[in-house]
Amino acid sequence: MGKRLSLASAVLLLILVVEIQCANEDPDGLINIRRHVHVRNDISPTAKLNLHCKSKDDDLGQHVVTYQQEFTWSFRGNIFARTLFWCNMNWTNRAGHLFQQSFTTYESKVTPCGKDCVWSARTDGVYFLDNFVGRFVLVYSWK
Ligand SMILES: *[C@@H]1O[C@H](CO)[C@@H](O)[C@H](O)[C@H]1NC(C)=O
Repeated sequence: MGKRLSLASAVLLLILVVEIQCANEDPDGLINIRRHVHVRNDISPTAKLNLHCKSKDDDLGQHVVTYQQEFTWSFRGNIFARTLFWCNMNWTNRAGHLFQQSFTTYESKVTPCGKDCVWSARTDGVYFLDNFVGRFVLVYSWK
């Protein structure tokens, strides 16, 4: 039992050491991967999507995304750290009704994605491309 525990700690320590070294020596490797986040407007040809995304350190500014266009940015994600971006978004339909939502665009433990994290705003809400099932799933409905 004690031996197993110390083996587990040794493995964990090794992983941490490898992680620290790879962060510097393997900038495009899997451990410290560059991730691209895409937020698409798939609502309707007349809908303009207002988008404002931020992380703790970066304010990506306000953007207006027209139909079938996307706003995209990239960052280096550490698999052991939680990297968090969130966006406020809204759009108005032709009847003048405002739809809005505030959502988390990337958090390694909640929304697993590989190099590309793809979000799609649609008439009923905001979808996330689930890389494991290979299709978009509705994550946030409009408020
Ligand atoms: C819509 O979103 C933009 C970008 O976040 C924001 O500046 C604006 O105030 C929002 N509009 C409303 C009516 O909430």
